[in-house]
Amino acid sequence: MPLKERVLAVLEENKGKSVSGSEIAKSVGMTRSAVWKAVKALRSEGYSIYAVTNRGYCLSEENDFLSEQSIVPNLRTKALGRKLDVFKTVDSTNNFAKSLAQLGAEHGTTVISETQTEGKGRMGRSFYAPMGVGIYMSIVLRPELSVEHSLLITSCAAVAVAEAIEKVSGLDCKIKWVNDIYSGNKKLCGILTEASVNVEQGGLEYAIVGIGVNVQNITFPKNISDIATSVRLETGETVSRSVLAAEILNCFEERLENIKDKSFLDEYRRRSNLIGKKIEVTNNDVTEKFECLGVDELGRLLVRSEDGTEKAIMSGTIRFAE
Ligand code: BTN
Repeated sequence: MPLKERVLAVLEENKGKSVSGSEIAKSVGMTRSAVWKAVKALRSEGYSIYAVTNRGYCLSEENDFLSEQSIVPNLRTKALGRKLDVFKTVDSTNNFAKSLAQLGAEHGTTVISETQTEGKGRMGRSFYAPMGVGIYMSIVLRPELSVEHSLLITSCAAVAVAEAIEKVSGLDCKIKWVNDIYSGNKKLCGILTEASVNVEQGGLEYAIVGIGVNVQNITFPKNISDIATSVRLETGETVSRSVLAAEILNCFEERLENIKDKSFLDEYRRRSNLIGKKIEVTNNDVTEKFECLGVDELGRLLVRSEDGTEKAIMSGTIRFAE
């Protein structure tokens, strides 16, 4: 690890506390003047590091940059996030993770960025990803699942993200089928899963699970301000994005371990904000009205139309009916 990153790791470990220059120098195996240079370089990147007379350096608790050093110490996973790339900017973390997967990246490889220039949403939409306030993260998975079961990955991720946000912030999070996390009637997070199928073996070669969470946003552009919210706006508090990113990976790995027994579906249904409601489903520009009955064992939405016909829906854009 380069010297600057090693100094950052010590400061992150002691966030909010002072560590003397000589202690840092000793633990990273460099001179005090090299520590000073590394601190200067980190400051020029925007880190707020105080020099406290006779006590050394202190990384401010308010510092909320995402880095390997701030995320990894909060992980309890075996695979997810253990290979981690953190960027200031990329076009889309899903695109980057996909290119890593095509080069053979292993299960759990994770890409995070402070912003995205071409963040992707479902159905070809774009995803708003402003600098420094959200978590934009994509995970390469290589699960042994049939294509038929692949829809479950997104539902499993939705449960894990809802659990992680709730754990870290105390917010009561609901899931709007199939992949949106809601607080009240506004969206906190979207999930986009892209998969590559192994045609010969009839299973998944890899899946990229892309997760975008609004964390510290205090405003949104006009076109989404009625439907989007953030953890900060909902709680009035600031949660650490690094802690939340790590917790999402922790919860997701735990849920993935049991994906085949489908136990997460009970939690998915418990958190659903659609079950029992009247909804409108749009597919290929055709909108139909239904009552939402539940979510089946393949993660499909069970609905009843006005003429009493029941069916399971695989995809579509859902709106609450008036
Ligand atoms: C949606 O709400 O339609 C899904 C949004 C998914 C956004 C995330 S942000 C990280 C990852 N990279 C992308 O380009 N998209 C996903």
